[in-house]
Amino acid sequence: MSKVRVAVIGCGSISKHRHIPEYASNENVELVAFVDPVIERAEEYAAKHGGKAYADYETMLAEVKPDAVSVCTPNYLHASMSIAAANAGAHVLVEKPMAVTDEEAASMIEAAAKNGVKLMVGHNQRLMPPHVKAKQILESGVLGRVLTFRTSFGHPGPDGWSIDGAGSWFFRKPEAIMGAMGDLGVHKSDLIRYLLNDEVSEVAAFIGTIDKAGDVDDNANVVVRMKSGAIGSLVASWTYYKGEDNSTVLWCEKGVMKIGTHPEDQVIVELRDGSVEKHKVGEISTNTKQLSSGVVDAFIDSIVNDTVPAIPGEEGRKSLQVILSAFESQATGQFIKVN
Ligand SMILES: NC(=O)c1ccc[n+]([C@@H]2O[C@H](COP(=O)([O-])OP(=O)(O)OC[C@H]3O[C@@H](n4cnc5c(N)ncnc54)[C@H](O)[C@@H]3O)[C@@H](O)[C@H]2O)c1
Repeated sequence: MSKVRVAVIGCGSISKHRHIPEYASNENVELVAFVDPVIERAEEYAAKHGGKAYADYETMLAEVKPDAVSVCTPNYLHASMSIAAANAGAHVLVEKPMAVTDEEAASMIEAAAKNGVKLMVGHNQRLMPPHVKAKQILESGVLGRVLTFRTSFGHPGPDGWSIDGAGSWFFRKPEAIMGAMGDLGVHKSDLIRYLLNDEVSEVAAFIGTIDKAGDVDDNANVVVRMKSGAIGSLVASWTYYKGEDNSTVLWCEKGVMKIGTHPEDQVIVELRDGSVEKHKVGEISTNTKQLSSGVVDAFIDSIVNDTVPAIPGEEGRKSLQVILSAFESQATGQFIKVN
């Protein structure tokens, strides 16, 4: 089979650390174009990997006609770029949050279906070894039902991550729409839905801007009720200046599972009968330690084998709905029904 011709739209940090190297090491891929209005960024990758550099994605889609694209741009551009790419016949891997409104997410799913292309969302937490292991353990039934949980994701913020540092779009509401919640909270709403194999039914949230300059949220605490009845908390923060955290603890009928709470034993299961199992399954990526996400390989596999992508648009939409509902709760002071 001929190679999948891929264009990367947005040549900032996530492209640098994950999408571009992961495409470059996938033998079924030919990188054919890079797009960024800061053209030097696109040119640098074109010089390294081949393909052409563009400042504008519409010109690129018309001239290159790629088989697939990655959309790695500021949040407000995800929907329009994904829809344009789908309409140009390209499969789409879009970064999270997949969109900034539910209507946008629905339009993206519709555009992909109408054009017969794949739509996958970069919810890479699902593919990280500790979360893969945790899912297996939960499915084995050894812990019984999940009764309550907390899941949190905090780091020092995108000023230390974005290619544009403290001057980044991440801090400008018209481009980011959401702050820590869109950056980190949506990872955890997706993870908890995935691990529990359940939907969020209701949320109550406190969301604020406590320490960062700019007008988007930097901290959020969300109380979550699942359809199963389990109640938990979801925390997102850009102000963990020390103590970066991407952990999840699930208290279940027969014991507790701790994920990402210990540097070497990434998954720990403590049962009520006193037994303890520790799993060294590989780390969770952090901003300073980037590990292959598996997202790109899964996306390319779905194209090559013509299967439903590992994390389809419908899943990204449901995870986004949880976050949008949390903002509604903050704005209205009400509990918000999600499902
Ligand atoms: N899955 C993950 O774990 C993860 C991690 C970080 C970021 N992300 C997501 O990836 C997306 C990009 O984030 P980032 O960290 O790479 O940001 P970044 O600030 O490092 O880079 C964004 C890039 O997009 C470019 N850009 C802006 N407008 C553009 C346009 N019209 N066309 C093409 N390029 C344009 C900018 O010039 C910049 O180079 C965000 O949606 C973010 O939420 C996902």
